[in-house]
Amino acid sequence: MTEVKKIAVIGSGAMGRQIGMVAALGGFDAVVQDISADAVSQAEQAMKEWVDGRVAKGRLDAGQADAAWSRLRFTTDLREAVGDADLVIEAATEKLDIKRRVFAQIDELAPGHAILTTNSSTYGSSSVADATKRPEKVCNMHFFNPALVMKAVEVVRHPDTSDDTVDTVMAVARQMGKLPVLLNKEIPGFIANRLMGALRSEAIDLFEQGIASLEDIDVAAKSALGHPMGPFELMDLVGIDVTYLIREATFDMTGDEREKPHPLITEKYEAGEFGRKTGKGWYSYAD
Ligand code: CAA
Repeated sequence: MTEVKKIAVIGSGAMGRQIGMVAALGGFDAVVQDISADAVSQAEQAMKEWVDGRVAKGRLDAGQADAAWSRLRFTTDLREAVGDADLVIEAATEKLDIKRRVFAQIDELAPGHAILTTNSSTYGSSSVADATKRPEKVCNMHFFNPALVMKAVEVVRHPDTSDDTVDTVMAVARQMGKLPVLLNKEIPGFIANRLMGALRSEAIDLFEQGIASLEDIDVAAKSALGHPMGPFELMDLVGIDVTYLIREATFDMTGDEREKPHPLITEKYEAGEFGRKTGKGWYSYAD
């Protein structure tokens, strides 16, 4: 297996920042990179608040917190971030042209032995692997929101991914305290998003037909099925923009009309009502 000591995370959004912290807590040297200095400093601040909260709540001792901080850095410099990385996790926006550009750049800058992964749940890694000269070292490493809490990581190989790459990424996920699952074949949505998508479609249909309020549909998912959140609450957490972009991209890839974003999702996306991050989605958030 490839020895992994240093992990670079590309993108400091809701996922990237938390994946960086998960890596540092797992004992890896980690760096989170983003092109925007503002985004980087917001991400660092959010992680400071999270760590302080954990320490105050007695969930993390101060020594562990200090050790994690000593292993984690935030930067805008891609060369510095990936120049000595053993594993790169791309968590940039769900747009293929951006991802392909990022992969081509990382491939130029990262050491030859480095494994390059994408956190994408939309695009199988074959759609970025051919932007690099090391397709056998490329796969998906898909975390769930919030990445600091959710245990699952979907590792998805494409036809040319090597066994060493898969074994290494599975082992890294375990060292991060995660429970990785392996998909031997690329399929849009992987496992969890396919299950979630089916539930979400039913929930929106029930709401649109006026069968029940969205609040009651969420209550039923929690109280009847034991889900920690209802489908509408979950869309607001994940981001209606993310949901929209995933569905659009999946429709583009498959041509399957059923994959198109629901018109109510499109309406919210176009209105900029993305969920918690904008203060309004299916629900309104005071701050
Ligand atoms: N970031 C970091 N930690 C968080 C958090 C966040 N955004 N939200 C909650 N937590 C932590 C809390 O600090 C708390 O930790 P402790 O118990 O150790 O103190 C723990 O999670 C539980 O939080 P709460 O008590 O506040 O609330 P909860 O019990 O309702 O849990 C939740 C919150 C973990 C988000 C839970 O509701 C849940 O599991 N929801 C479902 C989330 C889910 O399905 N995620 C997958 C989304 S799909 C995806 O990400 C894939 C994709 O490609 C789009």
